[in-house]
Amino acid sequence: MKKRLLSVLLASGMVATTLVGCTAGGSGNKKVGVAMPTKDLQRWNQDGSNMESQLKAAGYDVDLQYASNDINTQVTQIENMISSGCDVLVIASIDGDSLGTVLDQAKNKNIPVIAYDRLIMNSDAVTYYATFDNYMVGTKQGQYIEEQLGLKDGKGPYNMEIFTGDPGDNNARFFYGGAMDVLNPYIDNGQIVVPSGQIEFDTVATANWASDAAQSRMEAIISSNYADGTVLDAVLCSNDSTAFGVTNALVANYEGNHDNYPIITGQDCDIANVKNMLAGKQSMSIFKDTRTLASKTVEMVDAILKGTQAPVNDTETYNNGKKVVPSYLCEPVFADVNNYEELLIKSGYYTADQLQ
Ligand code: BGC
Repeated sequence: MKKRLLSVLLASGMVATTLVGCTAGGSGNKKVGVAMPTKDLQRWNQDGSNMESQLKAAGYDVDLQYASNDINTQVTQIENMISSGCDVLVIASIDGDSLGTVLDQAKNKNIPVIAYDRLIMNSDAVTYYATFDNYMVGTKQGQYIEEQLGLKDGKGPYNMEIFTGDPGDNNARFFYGGAMDVLNPYIDNGQIVVPSGQIEFDTVATANWASDAAQSRMEAIISSNYADGTVLDAVLCSNDSTAFGVTNALVANYEGNHDNYPIITGQDCDIANVKNMLAGKQSMSIFKDTRTLASKTVEMVDAILKGTQAPVNDTETYNNGKKVVPSYLCEPVFADVNNYEELLIKSGYYTADQLQ
């Protein structure tokens, strides 16, 4: 495989299936440690396997680990990656604030660190950050609710509830911030009402992004605020796992007693959520093509190890408390029932059968 062709394929984000099985292209036996948070959520499985196949195709050895959302497990896995001679670390953190000490070890051994999807906080050992534009994810979710409810035209008042993600995940604040910057003016002028009164980040956060936690909170909100027939018009959910829990609660405890079904946002285009979209139980999701994120990250790894320029398109937004981390932000895309075939099936992300 010619190196130029390889980099074109890497840049296109389509390398994963194309290159598996090819002979490595002269990167020696450098080893890349890839630490993923959990196998519980579909997207991290895709991220891990895309990273593994694309790194192998580029000629690297890969140590891929999943940590069952347990912080100590992730720290131990990273320690092992450092002691077993990884040349670069790619880390999707469970808790962005918990890796400072272990990353000091990486720094002492001059091992560069790429924060993958989630920023690692309060550590100057982070070399680059590869992610999607997280604020834009939230903006798109907020704008969807704004458009669907006709808020710009002055319509309302409408009832809305809010679910965001794990407080230890820096992304959650960007998703929440992006959406609330669109929606807060309508809360302030009364076009949106939040009957539960739960609006602040800490009260709407969901530990570990867990569906069952979102489901329990939604059930409690329904029984306290909507059991009397009050109509719920929209639920802002920062991602698909929270949307999934909210949907379960609504199907079991709301739908039967009300004539409407609310707008529900999401993110990731997980298979279960795309199925819910097709069944009218979730309104939209944000598609973040994990193949593209993996290919940008592999470009970063390659640049670090070859001493060339890494791809970076943002040097301002992501201050981790110790430094502004040079970042590459991929673009998140709006998805709903009207464009999912083009986005998800024709692009080869899923087969039509997977969405049956
Ligand atoms: C990711 C989302 C994901 C969430 C839960 C976030 O950091 O950016 O895509 O849904 O974590 O795993």
